[in-house]
Amino acid sequence: MKKDLGVKPFVFPMPVLMIATYGENDTVDVMNMAWGGISANNMVALNITESHKTSKNIKERGAFTLSIADVDHLAEADFFGIASGNKMEDKFERSGLHAVKSKNVDAPVVEEFPLTLECKVAELQHDAGGFRVLGEIVNVIADEKVLDENGNVDPTKLNAFVFDQFQSGYYKIGEKVGQAWSSGKKFME
Ligand SMILES: Cc1cc2nc3c(=O)[nH]c(=O)nc-3n(C[C@H](O)[C@H](O)[C@H](O)COP(=O)(O)O)c2cc1C
Repeated sequence: MKKDLGVKPFVFPMPVLMIATYGENDTVDVMNMAWGGISANNMVALNITESHKTSKNIKERGAFTLSIADVDHLAEADFFGIASGNKMEDKFERSGLHAVKSKNVDAPVVEEFPLTLECKVAELQHDAGGFRVLGEIVNVIADEKVLDENGNVDPTKLNAFVFDQFQSGYYKIGEKVGQAWSSGKKFME
């Protein structure tokens, strides 16, 4: 028996993305984002409230970085989704995390996060869905400790977690249960 739940943004899992930008005087800001993701091989799309400090910074600097948060920094990641750089000037400093300037875009790279996409703004969009930033991925940087012996990112080493839009929980990513483009092949025969 199925039950109607109404109109809800109920997709699972949702990512926990850390969007880092520079504001005035190169002040670092980072926000927590679930409603973002890949939109092309070299593009990401951020669905973002336009009044966020991050939105202002992105418009002014034309760049941002997008990192995957790990469980070791879950409290900091959540804090980045509670506090706003609009109201808290020392938001990033309070977290105790560290950032360096990206070599490729005008945005900070948070040192503690294991995987970072360096992005420059490709397009700012306003439509029925609200404000959206399309970013071109100009480079990806990863901590060596999350790479396998072939130099590929090993998801089991990322120690990443996902967001649950139903009850606002965070969940550590679990075991590998299949292989894409392979587990379903038996039905092709
Ligand atoms: C789990 C989680 C997911 C969030 N996802 C989004 C999102 O996808 N888009 C958005 O605009 N805000 C999102 N937020 C809210 C912002 O992170 C929050 O308003 C933050 O204070 C904005 O920071 P800023 O003003 O310094 O940019 C999310 C918050 C949390 C805790």
